Order: sequence, then structure tokens, then C-alpha cells
Amino acid sequence: MAERTSKKVLVTGGAGYVGSHAALELMRAGHRVTIIDTLERGSAAVIERLQAQGPIEFIQGDCGDHSILSPVLEDMDAIMHFAAYAKIDESVKFPDMYEKNNVDVTRILLDCAVEHDVASFMLSSTCAVYGTPSDTKRPVTENSPLAAANPYGQSKISAENLLRSAAEEGRIATGVLRYFNVLGSDEQGVLKEPIEDPRLVSACIQSALGNRETLTVYGTEYDTPDGTAIRDFVHVTDIAGAHLAFMEAIEKGPMRIYNVGCGHGISVRSIIKAVEKAAGHGIPVIEGDPRKGDISAIWADNSLIRSELGWEPRYQDINRMVATSWQAATSD
Ligand SMILES: NC(=O)c1ccc[n+]([C@@H]2O[C@H](COP(=O)([O-])OP(=O)(O)OC[C@H]3O[C@@H](n4cnc5c(N)ncnc54)[C@H](O)[C@@H]3O)[C@@H](O)[C@H]2O)c1
Repeated sequence: MAERTSKKVLVTGGAGYVGSHAALELMRAGHRVTIIDTLERGSAAVIERLQAQGPIEFIQGDCGDHSILSPVLEDMDAIMHFAAYAKIDESVKFPDMYEKNNVDVTRILLDCAVEHDVASFMLSSTCAVYGTPSDTKRPVTENSPLAAANPYGQSKISAENLLRSAAEEGRIATGVLRYFNVLGSDEQGVLKEPIEDPRLVSACIQSALGNRETLTVYGTEYDTPDGTAIRDFVHVTDIAGAHLAFMEAIEKGPMRIYNVGCGHGISVRSIIKAVEKAAGHGIPVIEGDPRKGDISAIWADNSLIRSELGWEPRYQDINRMVATSWQAATSD
């Protein structure tokens, strides 16, 4: 195993949900972190919370801006590229916006990283690159066919391809982490999971807090044990841990890709029950029809990252994962 030394790491999108948790874990592990974020979708409060934990450099700006990047990358060991737009519905409405921010910005950042001899570049990708594989083709492995069903997933495939070419040309060490459904918050309460977005856990928490009247479950007659759809949920701190483990192992050569999921399916009904358990009361649920294009079940085969990086999710139990979401939503 490579020796662990303190590294200088650029975290793009570090004022957002996943990037801030990665920045926190990097700092806890003794690395030196610089964050670039436009704050368009992240918040200054997140940066303040991080800076209260230790010295983190923050630059407000676009990580596709060469003039900002150049001085920063002069002395950087690694880049973790979280900055992106990541809303499927929005990507369908504004595909060009996704192409620009998720692909063109990645190209500029990658070229600038090569120019400044940064050793490694890790990209946040998504299980959306697999599209909607048929029920016979699960769990998905890193070799499952790529068939993004929306411009968001397509933009991540294109960004992955940029990194693959750079690795093949021997320009830089690159790697991709394809996350499944991320949830949870830092257990020590430093950071908070955003609950304004349309994710299932957020919707359940908003319902439990009384901020929305009902919660619709789309599809209750799937061929699954409780009739609701099954997905792979992974805790945000485990995602951060995967990045740290990857940074120690990444090297020049063919680009490596890893699925980052808990490795088993968790039903929509189990998530609702976990939020009810954390809240101590029920949530009013409406049973709706399945949404067009939704599949009954998808989860990750995570054996590759386990065997090659020695990573394994510390959070396996959905009640424990959701308890961290609830704690964050109900504390200062
Ligand atoms: N959250 C999930 O469930 C999930 C799942 C799979 C993959 N991902 C990927 O993880 C990454 C982070 O997702 P997130 O949920 O934390 O999103 P987020 O919106 O919370 O964070 C993204 C951050 O990037 C910033 N940003 C966007 N474009 C920028 C640019 N050009 N320059 C500088 N800053 C910019 C935003 O202001 C925001 O703070 C994304 O690449 C996303 O595709 C997330």
C-alpha cells in the first residue's frame, strides 16, 4: 500500500453537499484543502462550517476559468472534481447548460491540471450513466453497458471519456467514482445534508417535519418484497472515504472506474420507515403509479472498489444512515 503523506488537494464544488463532506474528511486526515466553488448551488455557510474545523482555502469562482485555476494548480497534488450540475429533470430542460458545465468545464480543468503537472484527477460520476438496465442485468458492475437516459447521465459519460483519453495518452492519472444514491450527513454534526432538493430522503424528512402535506410513493406493485422500487443508498461520509482511498492508490496507466454504493438494494418503503423511526411518528403517504422510465430495482456491484482499494461502507444499516440525515435536519 502507498505511504500516506499530507497532500494538497483541490476540491471543486466543495461548498456543495458531497464535496464539502469530502473536504471535511480530507482535512480530518491531515491533507491541505483548497476549494473552488461559484456558490451558485453551494453555500458560504458550508465554507464557514468547514473553516471552523481548520485551515481550508476558499476561492469563489468558476473551476472552468483558466485565469483562476492557473495560480491554484501550480502547487497541487490532486484534484477531486465534484463541481457540476446534477439534476436530472433540469438537464432534460436545459441540456446545453449541462454540456457546458459538466463537460466543457471538466475539459478546461483537466487540461490545466496537465499543464501544471498535477498528479491525479478524480471525477464524481453517477449510476445515471447506466440508464435503466433491465431487471435481468443487476447488480450493475463497472462493465455494465452505458446507456444514460438523460442529458445529465450523458454529460457524465462525456466527462469520463475526457479523463479516459487523458489517461490513455499518459498525460495524468485519472479515475472515476460512480456514486449511487447519496444520503446522510456528517455524524459529528459539522455539515448538513440539503433537504430542499427532490431526493426521496429529503421529501420524507420534509413530510416528517410537517413542511409538506403528503408523500407520494411512485409504484407499489413492483416485483420486490414490499412492492416498492429498490435502489442502492450510500452514506455521504462513505463516499468521501472512497475518494480518500482512491487518492492513495491512483496512478498513471489505464483509468480506473469504481461503483460506489452500499452493494445491496434498499426499498423506498424502508427509507420511509427509517425516517418515521428517526422522527418517532408516521408520515402520510399516497400510493401513486410508477413513473415512466423507472425500473423496479437497481443496485451496485461494489466488489471492485472493495478488493482494489480496501474500501467498504461503514454505514450499511439504513436506519443508521437516515438517523444522520434526521439529526442534521433537526439540529442547529
Ligand atoms: N448527490 C448525489 O446523490 C450524487 C449522486 C451521484 C453523483 N453525484 C455527483 O457528485 C457531485 C456533487 O454533487 P452534489 O450533490 O454535492 O451537488 P451540489 O449541487 O450540492 O454541489 C455542487 C457544487 O458545485 C458548485 N459548482 C457547480 N458548477 C461549478 C463550476 N463550474 N465552478 C465552481 N463551482 C461549481 C455548486 O455551486 C455546488 O456548490 C456532482 O458531480 C454530481 O454529479 C452526486
